Amino acid sequence: MEQDTQNDNPLDMTTRAKDSPWYAHDVAAVLQPQTRSMLQTHANILPDDIIAHIEVTRSKAWALAPYPSVGALTWLNPYLTLHLSHDLVLEKVKSGATILDCACMIAPDLRYLASRGAPAERMYGFDIEAGFFDIGFDFYRDRERWHGSFFEADGTKPLSETKLAVLKGKMDILWCPKFLHLFDRAQQIAVSCNLVGLLRSVTGSLFIGSQNGRPVPEEMPVKEGSLGHGQNSIFGANAEEMQRMWAEVGERTGTKWEVEARLLDLRTVGLHVEDGSWYKRVTGYNLQWTARLVEA
Ligand SMILES: C[S@@+](CC[C@H](N)C(=O)[O-])C[C@H]1O[C@@H](n2cnc3c(N)ncnc32)[C@H](O)[C@@H]1O
Repeated sequence: MEQDTQNDNPLDMTTRAKDSPWYAHDVAAVLQPQTRSMLQTHANILPDDIIAHIEVTRSKAWALAPYPSVGALTWLNPYLTLHLSHDLVLEKVKSGATILDCACMIAPDLRYLASRGAPAERMYGFDIEAGFFDIGFDFYRDRERWHGSFFEADGTKPLSETKLAVLKGKMDILWCPKFLHLFDRAQQIAVSCNLVGLLRSVTGSLFIGSQNGRPVPEEMPVKEGSLGHGQNSIFGANAEEMQRMWAEVGERTGTKWEVEARLLDLRTVGLHVEDGSWYKRVTGYNLQWTARLVEA
């Protein structure tokens, strides 16, 4: 496929071809050692079967929803392991904190936490596409022993109109991986404000995010219909911009937050290779932040 090197044209993510720039052909190159180990210990997959198991799972996910991220295998490695608050989250969840994985897809990060000894009973996940939960059970081979809960829900809708209503005010930690970057800046703030209602209204509740970012904040046009919702642009923020966005979330929700954020260059951890395409240009940085509620 001809590579798209133009940055001013809207990104066309409606292309579902496997020769798209986002389709990762070398699975072994994406698979990180800790993910391999988790698949052996948590899912009991034999070492020689792991690559084929990933391929089969991607085919099922691709048939359900051929998103760029599905083809790119961004769901394979739990990005929580890269996060500035990894140790804090692991310690809190192991000690019984409740956690909700927002737009969890197959919930790699919840499986990672469980594989490190955290109780799944206090883990929740939601996604607009419930078929991913089944694919996750098959991938991690834990359907019969998984004690966490998954909800089919649209995170952009008011909580009271979704199945998430039962979780309102009950979560200690919201983990929001690769979800809000599907929206423009205004919508990222609006969805964050909506999801904040799921957190316990006490000092120390955490809203933790991980998503594509940019060294210089950028609103990036995407071809109409690419995203499956009404928006035609996605926003890439940097750490400073994330501070400003959370100041706005605080103002709108009448809350105060302490925010720590950083932009991780994914090339430095072996998770990104440029190929000159638009897609690769906008996915090379992982923006991470931890917003800690200080005044409810
Ligand atoms: C890029 S994937 C990220 C999946 C997973 N969180 C991860 O880290 O690999 C985006 C996910 O958002 C889900 N999604 C998209 N729009 C949504 C919405 N409005 N509400 C809930 N989930 C949504 C998709 O179904 C998909 O699973």
